[in-house]
Amino acid sequence: MSRGAWSSRYGFYMVAVGSAFGLGNLWRFPFVVGHHGGGAFVLAYIFAAMLVGLPLLIAELLIGKTYRQSMDRGLKELFKQSKQSRPYRVLGIWIGRLSLLASVLMLAYYAVISGWVLFFLGAFIKASFLNRPLHPTEAFQYLMNNGTVQIFNTFFHIFLAGLIVTKGIREGIERWVQFLIPLFLILVGILLFQSLSLPGRAEALRFLLYPNFSRVSLATWIRVMGHVCFTLSLGMGVMVVFGSYLQPTSPVPRMAVRVMFADTLLSLSAGVLIFPIVISAGYDTRMLGPSLLFETVPLLFAQHGLGTFFGVAFFLCLYTAALVASMGLLEASVAHFMDRQEKLRAQATRKATAIVFLLSIVPALSSTVFSDIKIYNRGLLESIDGFIVTGLLPLVALLTAFVVGFCMKRESIEKEFLGETGSTSVRMYSSWLFAIRWLVPAFIFIGWICMLFSNS
Ligand code: PHE
Repeated sequence: MSRGAWSSRYGFYMVAVGSAFGLGNLWRFPFVVGHHGGGAFVLAYIFAAMLVGLPLLIAELLIGKTYRQSMDRGLKELFKQSKQSRPYRVLGIWIGRLSLLASVLMLAYYAVISGWVLFFLGAFIKASFLNRPLHPTEAFQYLMNNGTVQIFNTFFHIFLAGLIVTKGIREGIERWVQFLIPLFLILVGILLFQSLSLPGRAEALRFLLYPNFSRVSLATWIRVMGHVCFTLSLGMGVMVVFGSYLQPTSPVPRMAVRVMFADTLLSLSAGVLIFPIVISAGYDTRMLGPSLLFETVPLLFAQHGLGTFFGVAFFLCLYTAALVASMGLLEASVAHFMDRQEKLRAQATRKATAIVFLLSIVPALSSTVFSDIKIYNRGLLESIDGFIVTGLLPLVALLTAFVVGFCMKRESIEKEFLGETGSTSVRMYSSWLFAIRWLVPAFIFIGWICMLFSNS
């Protein structure tokens, strides 16, 4: 069965970066940073992105590129080639299953937040027609009280992602992303400058750069690593699938470094964009939550005459980023069904979409029908987020690190690092091997153990 391939290296960057860029950077990063005391979280995040995220990103791309399959099939091949015994093969099957579970659960919840973005896009378009300013807090409250709108937007989003994924890898994803991601970056750049002219900028920068350890708890470290997995699209088989579409000449380690840097830079920019608004508007950083992006950034637009136009452009770009990320997530389960059950792309997409539709109903109704449900004092949406980000993603990441570090055939790895691909990769080889074998598993274990002893 033909799997398709990226038509150019630029196309790969744009899609891999596009999958990494998304709500994780602009929506999730700022409010978790706020919650965990600013600079301390930022510092830990940069550290974890380099020592945990980068080695894992290389590992996932490597599995994809070497075996040209989705996660579970790729691992099967990995164990076959390295002649491992049966228990290992069973492990491979379980990693595949867990990563599939992570990708569908993640998409079900990601689609709900993407639906919020869609709602704000619609609200800004309406405001521009009516020539009336939009009140972001009111709009957000309306959305939270309206389960039907949330369900509708979530379904629409999943349907759209499914439609694009059905079209196949090259025409579907690549063409879209190539011009929308650069546009998104330009827009974030403009807003960043605008935000940095606000009176709260000095205090905001201090908050982001000065580590305040008083709000760090034992659970913070696993949250940081979970966020790194979230933002780099790791632990869900997504980067394995992207790697499987790479051309044989593409140098994985170097590409991974660039994707990681670009993603980290975008997250930091999002922090610098949002915190001056937070401080200038007098919010308490401890109380920040999932509504943060939606309630703050529109305040910037309101400052000048072109407000609604900016609102439309910003939410359009953010929606595009969310759509690309969702396409990546859907692609992971579609590739899984195609490889495993020999289904055609359209059939596999229909199956994956139907599963995600069903699963998304619960998070989409979390602020209405299920608003009374509390798990350890947290609402349903936050609990789902917590389960995925601090449990499932680090677990798949840990197992992947073990398999690549200890079971993958050395020649396949060395071919990638020490082959024709240039000196950066050669220099990275031994540090990467050390990180993937020891650092990544140790950090994740320590993170979980600390979480067990934490009371937050
Ligand atoms: N990395 C994306 C973001 O930051 C989310 C994502 C996770 C996308 C997993 C694809 C796969 O928003």
